[in-house]
Amino acid sequence: MSKPRILVTRRWPAAIERILSDRFDTTLNVDDVAMSGEALSEALAEYDAVLPTVSDRLPAAVFDGARPRARILGNFGVGYNHIDTNAAKDRGIVVTNTPGVLTDCTADIAMLLLLTVARRGGEGERQVRSGEWAGWCPTHMIGTKVTGKTVGIIGFGRIGKAFAQRCRFGFGMDVVFYNRSPVDPAEAARYGARQLQTVEDVLALSDFVSVHCPGGAENRHLMNTARLAAMKPGAFLINTARGDVVDETALIAALEEGVIRGAGLDVYAAEPHVADALKAMNNVVLLPHLGSATEETRTAMGMKVLDNVTAFFEGRPPPDRVA
Ligand code: DGY
Repeated sequence: MSKPRILVTRRWPAAIERILSDRFDTTLNVDDVAMSGEALSEALAEYDAVLPTVSDRLPAAVFDGARPRARILGNFGVGYNHIDTNAAKDRGIVVTNTPGVLTDCTADIAMLLLLTVARRGGEGERQVRSGEWAGWCPTHMIGTKVTGKTVGIIGFGRIGKAFAQRCRFGFGMDVVFYNRSPVDPAEAARYGARQLQTVEDVLALSDFVSVHCPGGAENRHLMNTARLAAMKPGAFLINTARGDVVDETALIAALEEGVIRGAGLDVYAAEPHVADALKAMNNVVLLPHLGSATEETRTAMGMKVLDNVTAFFEGRPPPDRVA
C-alpha cells in the first residue's frame, strides 16, 4: 500500500522531519516561506494530510472549491484559531493540535515578560548596549517590585495554572483568576489561586493582568477600552495568548494616555506586523511569539503531531482531535 502523502507547511525540528519522511511520503517546505491561501488550498487537494502551524491562515475560503484529498490537518501548535474548524469539519477533515507540551515554556515566557516590563529589563539592556549607561545612582531606572503583588489571570487552563504556580510559589504573589467555568477551589488552591466571578473583579484587584485564554471569535477583544480602564492605575498587561484577545488600538491608547503602566507582549493582532506605536514605547516589552520556542518543546510538539497523524492513518482515534 502506498504511503499517505503529507505536506509540512514550515520547517520543523530536523529529528521530526526525518521521522515524518521515513514514515510517510512527505513534502517539506525547505525554503521555510509561509504559504499563501492559494497554495494551501492546492495542498488540500493534493495531499492526504497537511501539517500547518500558527503562521498559516486557513479561513473557510481556503477550503472552498473541489472536494479536498486531505483528511487530516495535524496542527503544529496548541492554538488553532487560524483554522476554520467548521469549514474543515464540513469537508470531513479532522483537525488535531498539540496540547500539554508547551505549558511550562509558555508560562515561563509570561513570567519573563512580567519581570522584564516591571523591572525595565528591555530598556536597561538597550541602554547598556548603546553605551548610554552613565553608572549606578539611586534614582536610575526605577521599576516596580514584583514579589508580593497581586496577579490576575484571565483563563485558568493548563498555561494559566502553570503561570499561577510560578507567581505564587516563585514570587509570593497573591493570585486571582477569572475562568468561564468554575474551578474546584481545592484545585485552584494547588496553584495558590482563587477564582473571582468576573473579569472586572480580577482587573480591579490586580497589579499585573495576564491573559491565557484561547484566541478566536469568543475572546476577540476581551481586553478592550473599558476593561483596560478597569485595570488598577499603574497596572501592567501581559499577553502570551493570541493577539486578537487584546484590542491593540485600545491598548496603544491606554498606554499613551497612562491608563495602564506598561505591557509585555509575545503575540500581536496581525503577526508578524507590530504597530510602530508599540515599538516606540519604552514601557512595552515586545517578543516575537516565543512562547513555545525551546528545543525541547518544539520537538515535543512535532512528536505530538506525528502521533496524531500516525494514529489517524492507522485507523485509531488521534489523541488530540479538536474537530
Ligand atoms: C501555539 O502552540 O498555539 C503557540 O502559540 C505556537 O507556539
